[in-house]
Amino acid sequence: MRIVIFGAGGHAKVVCDVIEAFGGFTVAGFVTPDPEAATYLGYPLHREETFLRTGPAIDAAAIAIGDNAVRWRVAAQIRTALPKIAFPALVHPTAVISSRAILSEGSIVMARAVVNAAALVGRFAIVNTGAILEHDSRLGDGAHLAPGSVVGGAGQIGDGCLVGIGATVRPGVRMAAGSVLGAGAVAVSHLEEMAVFVGVPAVRMKQRNQTRTIAPED
Ligand SMILES: CC(C)(COP(=O)(O)OP(=O)(O)OC[C@H]1O[C@@H](n2cnc3c(N)ncnc32)[C@H](O)[C@@H]1OP(=O)(O)O)[C@@H](O)C(=O)NCCC(=O)NCCS
Repeated sequence: MRIVIFGAGGHAKVVCDVIEAFGGFTVAGFVTPDPEAATYLGYPLHREETFLRTGPAIDAAAIAIGDNAVRWRVAAQIRTALPKIAFPALVHPTAVISSRAILSEGSIVMARAVVNAAALVGRFAIVNTGAILEHDSRLGDGAHLAPGSVVGGAGQIGDGCLVGIGATVRPGVRMAAGSVLGAGAVAVSHLEEMAVFVGVPAVRMKQRNQTRTIAPED
């Protein structure tokens, strides 16, 4: 199965590692809006506009873009331009995924992460290196659990949320769609608005820029 990686930054390197370790795919290259070289990590580097217009023979795509809203938008653009392309869920072989967990299309689980029983990873969501999504939790569409973050049992992480590096969400706590929990913060009660929260316990720091949001109905 030929897979192409959209994005050519640091996150794309890690996604490439996951795909190579996962097996079963031939990496057909990277795609970026303005390629500055002919290759990236030893694979061909394609211009996005040309790639989407010419629609080469590719079976699958991984959207390796860390920004939640941009990742979601690019996925929608690819689906429109190349309707037959698949967005497989990708899992590093050292990750632990419960047989009772659900990984949605386009989601990715990095090395040493854990997705426990009855947890749901939304579409194009990221469970980054060493992150833990505990049992019965939901990670929304286009959301991101950064490296080393932990969501306790039955946590509800809304669409497009970022749980920062090393942050913790107490069991049962909800994060509103589009909200951000800063690096190292601990959410001990529900975060009910689209805002940035930091500290232990987490408190509201500022409003989030609402011009870019995840719209799962797109
Ligand atoms: C919370 C966060 C979103 C704020 O980003 P920002 O708006 O650019 O904030 P700034 O860096 O301008 O910092 C503003 C203030 O908040 C403080 N601050 C920033 N992040 C903080 C955090 N995680 N916890 C506590 N305080 C924080 C800064 O020290 C600064 O304080 P000051 O005004 O007293 O000097 C960001 O710092 C963060 O934690 N992002 C998570 C990143 C991450 O984990 N990404 C995943 C990559 S894989």
